[in-house]
Amino acid sequence: MIIQKSTNPRISNFDPNNFSFGNVFIDHMIICEYENGKWGEVQLVPYGPIGFTPAMMGVNYGQACFEGMKAYKDKDGQVFLFRPEKNFERINKSAKRLAIPEISEEIFLEGLKALVDIDRDWIPYGEGTSLYLRPLLFATEEALKARISEKYMFAIVATPAKSYYTAPVSVKISDHYSRAASGGVGAAKAAGNYAASFYPTQLAIEEGYDQIIWTDDCSHEYFEESGTMNVFVRINDTIYTPSTSDKILDGVTRDSFIKLAEKRGINLVIGDVKVSDVIEAQKNGTLKEVWGVGTAVVTSIFEALGYQGERLELPKLSDEESFAVQLKNDLVNIQTNQAEDPFGWRVLVEENVYSI
Ligand code: COI
Repeated sequence: MIIQKSTNPRISNFDPNNFSFGNVFIDHMIICEYENGKWGEVQLVPYGPIGFTPAMMGVNYGQACFEGMKAYKDKDGQVFLFRPEKNFERINKSAKRLAIPEISEEIFLEGLKALVDIDRDWIPYGEGTSLYLRPLLFATEEALKARISEKYMFAIVATPAKSYYTAPVSVKISDHYSRAASGGVGAAKAAGNYAASFYPTQLAIEEGYDQIIWTDDCSHEYFEESGTMNVFVRINDTIYTPSTSDKILDGVTRDSFIKLAEKRGINLVIGDVKVSDVIEAQKNGTLKEVWGVGTAVVTSIFEALGYQGERLELPKLSDEESFAVQLKNDLVNIQTNQAEDPFGWRVLVEENVYSI
């Protein structure tokens, strides 16, 4: 690995009590370039702009995908990644679908560990805080022919993340727009999936909702995802979540919630979640909770569903009554080394391995 440390670190200007997620970037980043049919050496360099022209294929044809993951600091200052092998598997799954050359586990994991180790002082400590890591792959060849690019960059940038507490949100169940189509790229964390979601989400916001529950592109009768998250529904004391498919992202938080629900002995059904069943359950009072899960916010609890012009309120459960809150707490306690890790999910980032 080539290591070029910043000569102008900004860490002393960083106020861990006053920052906003996604706007402040740590002092370094990882880059690695692909050309002539192979990936080059991983480089840890100061964070900053990299020169490309508007003819770069990634911005013209959208060959780009990314990951979202976090590093956590415990009370003793130890730093952990959470299930990084899942993100490694998924970035290559996304890459394959987008005809981007896959990267090795060494490039991905060593890059992550080096970055987190060198910039460990940027990781805030305290309830709900973490360092959000964004590994990404994109086409860099300067060419306008609509074909697979011959040059790529793998990069990792990172931004400190604050408390994941978010106020309950209201979500519109889509009866027109869809996030993904059968045979498409829904299961990939493709940049274009996010681009395609912004316009329908903006329309939902104009109608007074915060996000969209994405339904299937064919009939709009089945739940798929919610906003940028996977979705869970609780009817009576059973939890339902759609099964993954070529349209649904295999979320790491989703998978962790499933395993934690099983561990708690909660009744869980992975399969079709029918819009009409959820609406009927809301009407007959058996719908207890609906929530989204993702790396960024961990859990977003829904207070209302919008469906065909009607706003349907959801019950307000106490933390003790809420499965969403219980499972979120179980997960966060493992991530932040406040609980045993029976699944072996935490990966310690050793200190000073990458200093020069
Ligand atoms: C996540 O929560 O995992 C996300 O992907 C959100 C990100 C797009 C900000």
